[in-house]
Amino acid sequence: MAIKELTHISHVVFICNGDTCMSKGSDETTSRIRKAIADRALHESTRTIRTRCMGECSTGPTVFVAPANTWYQGIVPEMSEELVESIVGAGPVGFVHL
Ligand code: FES
Repeated sequence: MAIKELTHISHVVFICNGDTCMSKGSDETTSRIRKAIADRALHESTRTIRTRCMGECSTGPTVFVAPANTWYQGIVPEMSEELVESIVGAGPVGFVHL
């Protein structure tokens, strides 16, 4: 396995791909978030990671962003692009977050 250079990563986006969130579109959300990151040429600084259940099913689909340590809830695919703008811009304003 190749060792990746990680020192340039400034944001990590954990996207729940557990069963409940998947039933609400998390697979598409993951794809759209990744595309939004690539479209903004942020792929060198922003990493995405699919996770299993984060234990917040009742308010999911769930996304967690580090290092801001911000939990987002109810993130459906249509919110993906705005979420990326929020992550790299002014922060979670306009989103329901925990
Ligand atoms: S399946 Fe996503 S929080 Fe449980």
